Amino acid sequence: MKKTGNYDFDAPVDRGGTYSMKWDKYKGRDVIPLWVADMDFLSPPAVIDALNKRVNHGVFGYTLPPQELNDIIIGVMENEYGWKIRKEWIVWLPGLVTGLNVVCRAIGEDGDDVLTAVPVYPPFLTAPGYSRRNIIKTDLAEIDGEWRFDFERLEKAVTKKTRLFLLCNPHNPVGRIYSMDELSTIASICIRHNIVISSDEIHCDLLLEPGKRHIPIASLSLEIADRTITLMAPSKTYNLPGLGCSFAVISNQGLRKNFTAAMNGIVPRVNTLGYAAAIAAYRDSHGWHEALLDYLRENRDLVITSVNRMPGLSSRKIEATYLAWIDTRPSGIKDPVKFFEDAGVGLFDGNEFGTPGFVRLNFGCQRSLLKKALERMAMAVKKHAESKF
Ligand SMILES: Cc1ncc(COP(=O)(O)O)c(C=O)c1O
Repeated sequence: MKKTGNYDFDAPVDRGGTYSMKWDKYKGRDVIPLWVADMDFLSPPAVIDALNKRVNHGVFGYTLPPQELNDIIIGVMENEYGWKIRKEWIVWLPGLVTGLNVVCRAIGEDGDDVLTAVPVYPPFLTAPGYSRRNIIKTDLAEIDGEWRFDFERLEKAVTKKTRLFLLCNPHNPVGRIYSMDELSTIASICIRHNIVISSDEIHCDLLLEPGKRHIPIASLSLEIADRTITLMAPSKTYNLPGLGCSFAVISNQGLRKNFTAAMNGIVPRVNTLGYAAAIAAYRDSHGWHEALLDYLRENRDLVITSVNRMPGLSSRKIEATYLAWIDTRPSGIKDPVKFFEDAGVGLFDGNEFGTPGFVRLNFGCQRSLLKKALERMAMAVKKHAESKF
């Protein structure tokens, strides 16, 4: 069995009996679930040890944000991104989607517009409506084989009522890590139109492209930080989404006050196990994290090569995340999700990301399972292509 460092990401893990959202969707059916974004790997050993220790204590009362964790976050932001943040800027949240919805309620008034670029993670598209705002969508463009912002189109989409821009960086589902230039241009458009930026950076530690680094948009300048709410979490990287622990970083006191006011009475505290796991993840899991990225890089390469060999299917470069965004439109497959489910693979529907004809594939799983899923897909697509002649 191939090991990456001391960690065996090839070892199968049976997730049956854990009420896994990902696996139970297809319970009793021979469908490999590669849809929702959690990974099939064990969390880092340090996290499992910390949780065992906390569970063995046996009392699970209301828990304050640990000072130790705030200090760890401050250190990570400075060391990884050269971004100096203060403890008072951190607002703990029981989920990042909660943060997206709180942002929409905290900024502007009922009836205002919220702008985002599609395809994008589905809660970006639903949060504005839940908060009595209107969603305005602009399309990302495919330029020179990669997904980019079309800045002219983005600025044209701004209305008089646009108060908030929802950015996803790295971008789920297209896997882009935005450059300093791209982020500066986005920020200058937002400054010109007095728009607050909500920057979802949950995938910031899942960088697969050598030489590329993550830049928090708020770290670009004080002026940009002043209009930005950054949302982060250890959940994607360390595979802890069931523990509900994430945070916002908001340097502008007024914005922070509006944000916490929108949380009042509705948003619960972070649970005690989430905090214990977050400390061990950020502080004690570097080796595991590096090994994970190596494993994911190989999975990514396998997905890109295999998908681009399937007639009528294509996937662009994936710089970050463990998600592949697959264009099925040239294949003529009518309902791609159903088509691949019938072939034994469960994918996420592009419609929900604002872009029909695409599917999203989660490659955060054991390579043998991924290979099996890709073989099933290849066989079905080949049959479909042959049936057209
Ligand atoms: C961009 C993005 N934001 C937020 C989330 C989910 O955050 P949470 O589970 O903390 O609500 C995901 C999960 O896939 C995501 O991709």
